[in-house]
Amino acid sequence: MKTPIFKDLPMAIRRADFADDFVWGVSTSSYQIEGAATLDGRVPSIWDTFSATPGKVRDGSTGAVACDHYHRWEQDLDLAQSMGLTAYRFSIAWPRIFNGRDATPNAKGLEFYSKLVDGMLARGLQPWCTLYHWDLPQTLQDQGGWASRATIDAFLQYVDVVTRHLGNRVRHWITHNEPWCTAMHGNWDGMHAPGHRSLPLALQVCHHVMVSHGRAVALIRANVPDAQVGIALSLHPVHAASSSAEDQAAVQRHDGLRNRWFLDPLYGRGYPAQVLELVGDDAPHIEAGDMEAIAAPLDFLGVNYYFPEVVRDAPEQYPLRSAIVHPQGRERTAFGWEVAPQGMVELLARIARDYPAGPLYITENGSTYEDRVEADGSINDLQRRDYLIRHLAAMRTAIASGANIRGYFAWSLLDNFEWAEGYLRRFGLTYIDYATQERTLKHSGHWYSAFLHGAHN
Ligand code: NOJ
Repeated sequence: MKTPIFKDLPMAIRRADFADDFVWGVSTSSYQIEGAATLDGRVPSIWDTFSATPGKVRDGSTGAVACDHYHRWEQDLDLAQSMGLTAYRFSIAWPRIFNGRDATPNAKGLEFYSKLVDGMLARGLQPWCTLYHWDLPQTLQDQGGWASRATIDAFLQYVDVVTRHLGNRVRHWITHNEPWCTAMHGNWDGMHAPGHRSLPLALQVCHHVMVSHGRAVALIRANVPDAQVGIALSLHPVHAASSSAEDQAAVQRHDGLRNRWFLDPLYGRGYPAQVLELVGDDAPHIEAGDMEAIAAPLDFLGVNYYFPEVVRDAPEQYPLRSAIVHPQGRERTAFGWEVAPQGMVELLARIARDYPAGPLYITENGSTYEDRVEADGSINDLQRRDYLIRHLAAMRTAIASGANIRGYFAWSLLDNFEWAEGYLRRFGLTYIDYATQERTLKHSGHWYSAFLHGAHN
């Protein structure tokens, strides 16, 4: 395979523009890449059930095989190492560790992640472990899932075992990935597992997820003395569809649920009063001590940034009286997501301005485009490369204006199972031929690698 030459860079950016100890990573998640869904004692997760239900995943696929990372992890870590990365963000499949019935963990599951972590360390990759990236054991869903407080206890039991097992080698822990998606896509719009459609249910799930986060922070600190603990939120700058006072007010309401619903309680301010008022009786039931638990001090905040949202006033829409619009003429990825590096600068500046957030990490950022394999086998994904370059440049701008950003994780190392979109959406820096499981670094991956090796100096 030819290595592309990078002499026509659309924008000059160099690794040396960032601090020497800046963390350079990629992110993945268990259900999206591992496959081996029935192996070594893994039990079904809500995503196995959901994806096997006709009509839930666009191409009718499941994560049963995915990238077969469970068997190919050494090759995948070799690739990450060869790219010059310094960190690798992965998630643990809870259903490999507990079956949702027995109190004894599954030794084979623990062994897999133990080997994986050792493999990272051997390759100079700092392990960043996400504890919950959406694959809840189905048995726990059958007992009420995140709508039940018992799931908080089950999560803590799982976190306890995992952090005791890996805490001597893993320092960086992310409790939850994108609680918005867990709660809202899973239980409000039904696009994700378990596929319910109820706002009060979604808000209750969200609350329990956030309580489980806060209580896990204390537990991780107890088990891992030098732990760095955070959470990864999907955050969006929210813009008004017009300059009208009504649309501007809609921005406030939308931002209230999309962003402040998570940020405010994490930093001790409770849920935003404006949103509580809008949702009325649909607000979650909160028990004594919950809000204090959620506000457990963090070592860092993980920001998953993809795109800004544009909203207009929509009085008929419950509960926010706002609607998302998609203005014409904007640059978009194949998903229809707006390409807006400036939004990242804005978002990071806003967090730094409004919250005592401490160190920030971009725990995800990436794009999906229609990749084409050329006759010589290469994938010339210039748009993904440019997306990457422009977002790195945005990060540099944000840092120059004072944002405390310490690292960047590209989504994703590999093409993978993109949830309700199945395998139709490719986000990888590496192309996966799902028929052969062959991995091919795309042009964007070659660019990131060259950047990390200092080739653009
Ligand atoms: C966020 C999620 O964490 C990840 O699982 C997903 O694949 C990417 N965004 C792209 O949609």
